[in-house]
Amino acid sequence: MPSLPSLVASLLLAGSTFGAQAAAKEPSAHGHKMAPKVFIVSMFEPEGQAWWNIPEFNLLAHNITIPGLSPLYPDVHCTEDYEVCHMITGESEINAATSVSAVAFSPLFDLTRTYFFVAGIAGVNPKRATTGSAMFARYAVQVALQYEIDIRELPQTYSTGYIPLGSDFPDQYPTSIYGTEVFELNADLRSIAADFARHARFSDSAAAQVYRAHYANSSEYHAATLAPGVVECDVATSDVYYSGSILGTAFENTTTLFTNGTGDYCSTAQEDNATLEVLVRSSSHKLTDFARIIVMRTASDFDRPYPGSSATYNLLYSDQGGFEPALENIYRAGIQVVQGILRGWDATFAKGIKPRNYIGDIFGTLGGEPDFGPGSAQALVDSGAFKKRSVNDRLRRRG
Ligand SMILES: *[C@@H]1O[C@H](CO)[C@@H](O)[C@H](O)[C@H]1NC(C)=O
Ligand SMILES: *[C@@H]1O[C@H](CO)[C@@H](O)[C@H](O)[C@H]1NC(C)=O
Ligand SMILES: *[C@@H]1O[C@H](CO)[C@@H](O)[C@H](O)[C@H]1NC(C)=O
Ligand SMILES: *[C@@H]1O[C@H](CO)[C@@H](O)[C@H](O)[C@H]1NC(C)=O
Ligand SMILES: *[C@@H]1O[C@H](CO)[C@@H](O)[C@H](O)[C@H]1NC(C)=O
Repeated sequence: MPSLPSLVASLLLAGSTFGAQAAAKEPSAHGHKMAPKVFIVSMFEPEGQAWWNIPEFNLLAHNITIPGLSPLYPDVHCTEDYEVCHMITGESEINAATSVSAVAFSPLFDLTRTYFFVAGIAGVNPKRATTGSAMFARYAVQVALQYEIDIRELPQTYSTGYIPLGSDFPDQYPTSIYGTEVFELNADLRSIAADFARHARFSDSAAAQVYRAHYANSSEYHAATLAPGVVECDVATSDVYYSGSILGTAFENTTTLFTNGTGDYCSTAQEDNATLEVLVRSSSHKLTDFARIIVMRTASDFDRPYPGSSATYNLLYSDQGGFEPALENIYRAGIQVVQGILRGWDATFAKGIKPRNYIGDIFGTLGGEPDFGPGSAQALVDSGAFKKRSVNDRLRRRG
């Protein structure tokens, strides 16, 4: 991908054209750094392409190579006026964490007032939504951060082979805490973003309509049979791309357990907790604002089969028809969110939406007391950072 090393170089020197423009726009507070109002985060190329060649703005006006980004996606892209920037992290938790770190800690940006808009496709729980829908999360849960034993080697009393770290049974809260189990976002901002997205006309496909009709057989899957729209519900993160009713239900249960009953599992993807862990760390150093994060996932496929079908068919062979509408709806729903923020910048978004709920991680890193988990003090003990209790003998850790 072509890049503009000379731009980077000139940004580092005061007095570049951009520096002068930025200085004129943001005289004292933001100096010569790029200070986008919205930073769109995609995870792979098709999600990124959803934003290219659109009438509203040209994200390819500036390509800026940032050290630490993925070799596949080495550039941040920005509009002519640098109000909207965009990155592609690469897929899965490791790529998301390292790529977002490269940007969040880059000296080229001032991200203190930037809205991070994670916008990708995801699997969907047919109990909560259908393919093509845009799902806005309050919680992100790392559901596979658990022990795993193949079910064939477990006593029959176990409903799943996933067992929370430091516990003995699937329904016990983990007592060994890594800190990325759950992230909670600004619920009021989530509602505002979802309301913006409700103005979108959603794309759908004939194949998706045919496929989702199969779910009509079960009353618990009613949501799967509806036309795509906006749903406010939560996202699971797992590097493992799982499929099937049993794992779907197991991770639904994990979401409920980890969030103390508040989380509402409806989408599943491979990155969000990783992205959010970086933004907790950068926010704790006042480089970003954790109250300014929106996670939207559009549904590309169901996480479990329809009644009478199999998990392998659902994952490997079915034509669910949701992939294209999901990509298209990243743009259709997402552009409403981006433009809503830009239009309301002076009146509302520059100063921010003050969260009324707890935001952050299980440790209370950003202050406040989480409404999930064992409490910030106990979570720190359970992390093993403080070796106080007999819990140590439960820290069966690798690495
Ligand atoms: C930025 O990169 C894209 C390809 O990724 C290219 O189409 C576009 O022209 C580039 N922009 C500039 C200003 O070079
Ligand atoms: C991801 O974050 C969500 C909530 O933000 C949390 O519940 C979940 O446990 C996290 N998962 C991982 C693997 O970190
Ligand atoms: C999910 O939780 C319910 C209620 O506790 C339980 O009956 C079910 O077996 C669990 N499912 C899995 C797959 O763990
Ligand atoms: C409903 O599902 C059952 C299998 O669970 C299947 O045999 C039946 O044909 C389905 N009915 C309809 C109307 O799809
Ligand atoms: C969450 O649930 C666990 C047990 O499952 C409990 O120990 C903890 O106190 C609960 N946390 C909150 C904030 O309610």
